[in-house]
Amino acid sequence: MYLCPQPKILELKKGMLNFPVGEMPKVEKKKTPELSEKESYRINIDENGVLIEGADEKGLYYGELTLKQLMLNYRGCLPYLYIYDEPEFAYRGFMIDSCRHFFSVDEIKKMIDGAALFKFNKFHFHLSEDQGFRVEMESYPLLTSVGSVRPSSNFGKGENDNTPYGGYYTKEELKDIVKYCRERYIEVIPEFDFPGHTTAVISAYPELSCTGEKIELKTTGGVFKDILCVGNPETLKLIYAVIDEFCEIFPSKYFHIGGDEAPKTCWLNCPKCKAKLEAEGLHTMDELQGWLVNEVASYLKKKGRKAICWNESLNGGNLDKDNITVAQWTNKMDKGVEWANGGNPVIMEKFTPYYVDYPYGMHSLKDVYMFNPRKVRGLTSLGAASVKGIESPIWTEYVRDFEKMSYMCFPRWLAVAETGWNGANPKGYQSFLKSAEFYCDILKGLGHTPAPKSDWNVAPHTRLNETVGFFTNFVTPTLIKDFFKKDK
Ligand code: ACM
Ligand code: ZN
Repeated sequence: MYLCPQPKILELKKGMLNFPVGEMPKVEKKKTPELSEKESYRINIDENGVLIEGADEKGLYYGELTLKQLMLNYRGCLPYLYIYDEPEFAYRGFMIDSCRHFFSVDEIKKMIDGAALFKFNKFHFHLSEDQGFRVEMESYPLLTSVGSVRPSSNFGKGENDNTPYGGYYTKEELKDIVKYCRERYIEVIPEFDFPGHTTAVISAYPELSCTGEKIELKTTGGVFKDILCVGNPETLKLIYAVIDEFCEIFPSKYFHIGGDEAPKTCWLNCPKCKAKLEAEGLHTMDELQGWLVNEVASYLKKKGRKAICWNESLNGGNLDKDNITVAQWTNKMDKGVEWANGGNPVIMEKFTPYYVDYPYGMHSLKDVYMFNPRKVRGLTSLGAASVKGIESPIWTEYVRDFEKMSYMCFPRWLAVAETGWNGANPKGYQSFLKSAEFYCDILKGLGHTPAPKSDWNVAPHTRLNETVGFFTNFVTPTLIKDFFKKDK
């Protein structure tokens, strides 16, 4: 029988429960207070029918999900069995970037359906970028009207399109996604990424950059020098306004405030940023970014929310330990490990192998399956305990449509789900592979386009070809020109 993720304890018993094909067996649900409230559940199947127990609705929901998977395995019968199950990690996340390319509400819901089946419980929604800001805004309306449309797209040989590209979600659409997720016990965590990756914000409000120059949204992928000016008090005003509006839409415990890839060239040359550095008694621009993150994290705390930031925000060495969870994405992990070893929370989404926008030839299904987020070099036992979970992002510079997104994520997200629920690989890779085959067929029935088995783990020479091919595909004349521009 194929279950994904594997339950902690599964005991098959002698006998089968029969019921008419196409119908449900008799199912009793019971709240059992002695079970942990942390998503655990029990299932008993015997001659009396199916009994699902959970401490609360959430536990019952996960029991029902497992029953759903069992039902997919059998027709008109279920084996007598006992299951006890609980997750290893409280945070089991997937991330979608709807900025580089925009995905409709229906496409997002289909991705949620796919992830929900495997017990993911956090949907990190990446909504602001250099190439597009994707939320309807009232307080700063130009973020939407100007910031959501780029003049063209130059993401690689297959996409050099000189027509404007845009899209945003209305508040009603986002609330609908939140409701859809709530019904599946998935928390939607919005991301407003700053101070870097803010070209869309600056294109709408140029006065918030260090130079005040009017710039256009970016049309290629990359890391860009124009970032929000931290020495300008108006910048914090905009950040707080965006957070306020996002918080009205997303009632999540966590709020992601970005903080990755923010070159300090502009800050180092800006009188306002230099004055701010001095006024706060700081010494480096990385510390100034840490100061910004701390300010915003304490604003979020007053609103009852917890901040998540990308690991580069640790570079200044001055993050508050109070209300901040670090999302570790870079392969260089020394500061993230140190943070975790100090007993501070970390979400692991290490580039290699969890970035599923990269080809299977680079991050194979087996590599994803084998990654153990608590067995990272340098982690102490306290550090390992501080890893609160995992997350796998799909960035979309080179993912233009739903079919490609589904192909890149599935079945790799099944491997991530297995680790998220069980910590590591409980039954071994060969057994997982069979489950992956089984559920790829199920996913196809749900309108997904998972990668065929032949692509999951390719031979070494094909790995090299795919890796080289991936990088040469997006090195276009525009990107080379941009790269060598002075003061990039
Ligand atoms: C990231 O990939 N820049 C978080
Ligand atoms: Zn500045």
